[in-house]
Amino acid sequence: MSRALSAMMLAAVIAGCGSSAATKPGPTPNPWVDLTPAKDENPDPNIVEVSIEAREATKTYVTGTTTKILSYNGTVPGPLLEAKVGDKLVVHFKNSLSMETTLHWHGVRVPNAMDGTMAVQKAVGPGQSFEYTFTLPDAGLFWFHPHMMEEVQIQQGLFGVIRVRGPSEPKVDDERIVVLDDVLLDKAGAFPATIDSDTEMVGREGNVLLVNGTTLPLPSWRAGALERLRIVNVANARFFNLALPGYAFRVIGADGGLLPKPYDTDKLLIVPGERYDVVLIPRGKPGDEAVLTDETYGRGHDTGKEPPMPLATMRISGDAPLAGRALPASFPDIERLPGGNANTTITFDEKYVNGHPTFSVDGALYPNVPPLAVTNGSVHVFDLVNNAEMDHPFHLHGFFFQVLSQGGVAVPPERLANKDTLKLPQKTTTRIVTRFDRPGAWMYHCHILEHVSRGMMGEIDVAP
Ligand code: C2O
Ligand code: CU
Repeated sequence: MSRALSAMMLAAVIAGCGSSAATKPGPTPNPWVDLTPAKDENPDPNIVEVSIEAREATKTYVTGTTTKILSYNGTVPGPLLEAKVGDKLVVHFKNSLSMETTLHWHGVRVPNAMDGTMAVQKAVGPGQSFEYTFTLPDAGLFWFHPHMMEEVQIQQGLFGVIRVRGPSEPKVDDERIVVLDDVLLDKAGAFPATIDSDTEMVGREGNVLLVNGTTLPLPSWRAGALERLRIVNVANARFFNLALPGYAFRVIGADGGLLPKPYDTDKLLIVPGERYDVVLIPRGKPGDEAVLTDETYGRGHDTGKEPPMPLATMRISGDAPLAGRALPASFPDIERLPGGNANTTITFDEKYVNGHPTFSVDGALYPNVPPLAVTNGSVHVFDLVNNAEMDHPFHLHGFFFQVLSQGGVAVPPERLANKDTLKLPQKTTTRIVTRFDRPGAWMYHCHILEHVSRGMMGEIDVAP
């Protein structure tokens, strides 16, 4: 589907909500929807035991249409898993789909056998079950999704969120999880079976934008409250570039937990797979509204022509305003990994082959990308060279990394963060450092899902 048609359909969706301008929401937005918590079947306070079933379901994304979706336990997003650092998670997973699947725990530092990839387990076939069990070592917001046929399975609804609480949580008045997504639907509300080669190149951007599975929700928030938003981008390809007029986001956490030094930003770019933890204090009188938008962002190949798109309308509630709240300014330090010259260079590129784009790692397409070998316990510096004319969101399984420099510019020490997903800007080299502390076969790949299936994935073998 062409991007122009996508934009038209999005405009139609917005118009259906009664709005005229793309940046103004309609007068009848949808109610805010919180995620559905999974039922903890284990009374032990240190064990979270849940059942997750992948099954077909239906959902109305656009009024008047019904979409056949894939779901965990019937909902999109799937169930919310809640735990604290050190808890054991036990997941009884059942596949009731007609296709094979797996569960991958994005950002969780799992033992290798639990990583849910084809490198470590057999696919869970239709009717089969698999038990995932591991300890949760880090506080933060993580997510889970299949690690095969991702571009179809995640797009059609297979994802869920894990929130792990730690000892240094900020005291806030309200906290929301915000799952950003988009779906590409045809006029009947169905997922198109095929995509054109332009879409293969830039990845599948949807014509319907979703927050927690809903279009244009209307959360109400309290004036003066310290409000925490835990944001994850689960879209196939869309880079969400968030803005809320009149506000700056105080960024207090990234993928792998809280930041020692929070910072403020007016625009918050979140690439597929990435998470940010932000706080802000709503201002105004009851009924005042601010519209959260996805701002134009050019990530290469003609993206970035879309006008800003509304995501949600934040409305000040009728509650008495709270006073005296302050934005958190610091959190406990995290261990800084040493810098140095690169031990290994990995080069990402793109090329048309027979009229279709392919995305390579060191000149090869997965599964033909030669695995990299490292030793357990080693600290490794990588130069990630993006030679493509497009940004690629890099994701490493199993380990956090820290960014040392991008385009030769050192990351200032106060921006220290543990990351697992990161934008590699086009035509730029990014230097990262990782400590490998668990043996096994770990994947790294672009988190534009259309790029994974067209080659952009590799494996790092950590020798015991
Ligand atoms: Cu979120 Cu290998 O993926
Ligand atoms: Cu990519």
